[in-house]
Amino acid sequence: MISLEKLVTYAKATGFIFQGSELYGGLANTWDYGPLGSLLKNNIKKAWLKKFHDENRYNVLLDSSILMNSQVWVASGHVGGFSDPLTECKSCNTRHRADKLIEEHTHNSVNPSAWSHEQLHQYMMNEKVACPNCGKVNWTEIKSFNLMFKTSQGVTESAGNTVYLRPETAQGIFINFKNIQRTTRRKVPFGVCQVGKSFRNEITPGNFIFRTREFEQMELEFFCKPGTEIEWFNYWRTYAIEFLQTLGLKRENLELHDHAQEELSHYSNATTDVLYRFPWGFDELWGIASRTNFDLNAHQTHSKENLEYLDPDTNEKYLPYVVEPSLGVERLLMAILTESYEEEVLADGQIREVLHIHPALAPYQVAILPLIKKKHDQYALELRDQVAKYVQVTYDETQNIGKRYRRQDQIGTPFCVTIDDETLENQTVTVRERDSMAQTRIPVSELKAFLLEKTTL
Ligand code: GAP
Repeated sequence: MISLEKLVTYAKATGFIFQGSELYGGLANTWDYGPLGSLLKNNIKKAWLKKFHDENRYNVLLDSSILMNSQVWVASGHVGGFSDPLTECKSCNTRHRADKLIEEHTHNSVNPSAWSHEQLHQYMMNEKVACPNCGKVNWTEIKSFNLMFKTSQGVTESAGNTVYLRPETAQGIFINFKNIQRTTRRKVPFGVCQVGKSFRNEITPGNFIFRTREFEQMELEFFCKPGTEIEWFNYWRTYAIEFLQTLGLKRENLELHDHAQEELSHYSNATTDVLYRFPWGFDELWGIASRTNFDLNAHQTHSKENLEYLDPDTNEKYLPYVVEPSLGVERLLMAILTESYEEEVLADGQIREVLHIHPALAPYQVAILPLIKKKHDQYALELRDQVAKYVQVTYDETQNIGKRYRRQDQIGTPFCVTIDDETLENQTVTVRERDSMAQTRIPVSELKAFLLEKTTL
């Protein structure tokens, strides 16, 4: 498996991911997605939307604001409670998340997520949990650190115009529940999908793009009748795993962590974390939670608007329960790169760097390569323009054909189409496949059907 260092180097060298603000010395834990990374990110979002929206008969789509009335966050509990337990090393003045330090110290054999501040502090002192920076055991009392980024709207700064950057996309869905249900005339059960940026002032961001302060989420809030939520929870859990496997993540690299009763959030009656085998070990990729009617109830109480659903068949009125699969775009991107990257040893002993990424996710589905630039470039460029209408395409005319194949292998392009003398004579092209390196000749007239069939999810 690729190491974290190698992944960072590879992503930077190829143009997937650059350090954010690099020109000015960088801004810690920010990342810019280059030409390949931004295409990959888009393909991941497209794949998720296809599976969770287009192909799924229950779900509709929403694109709500990042900035919302701050009462949304009061009602949801984020203003009061969305915080991490922060401690400071008195010896070297570095700040850390107490629960994460304990998890690392015990190699995840204890789960301190529901412990009180006193319990966390006592454990750290008794078990001599050392500061990762200076090695001392000299911790301050633990304080809550709110993770929301706060700013103000308009020209004057005052408490009245405080706004927060959303720490999840979910609340935009809850506050639009009535609007969506009314305008779509959907009957429960139905779901609302949303993809968008979220922001959290994480105390300990890190592991490359795994935990950052700015990230994207793909969330579904699925509204169902109370009493049916566990059935739906199981449905979405299976659906999620199938989706990950369709994208090429192997089952042995996925683990399901079902929360035990004492680990569950107070509003949840079932939660599963889908873990992926990242370069440092299994870690959370996707959270799937049955959230009861906690969120709708909180917004109903706080806004004093009735958010109940009237079942037209039974005339029953109720607040729907919610099942929420919530996935980070960057975490999935990182899992896909980790899974796909290989340094393959060829029969002649040479090393081939290849990204075995699903063709539908590859930044480019096809590369068009004129064998000899001077003779074949005109035809190749015209073909490039035609192919670009139905798949993502790149064009390369520099260096010999072998080197060009290798460059495409390295960035995961599943097919290279070579234009040569025969193309000009009899309208056929060579199609070279990334994983097997096999080459076949096909008529240009069949290229569209071939590529669409091979590169669609
Ligand atoms: N609405 C529920 C919610 O936001 P969460 O477990 O806090 O739940 C869901 O987040 C998913 O969002 C995580 O499983 C992860 O994929 C992604 N995520 C959360 N915090 C992140 C961060 N700081 N950086 C990158 N991805 C993050």
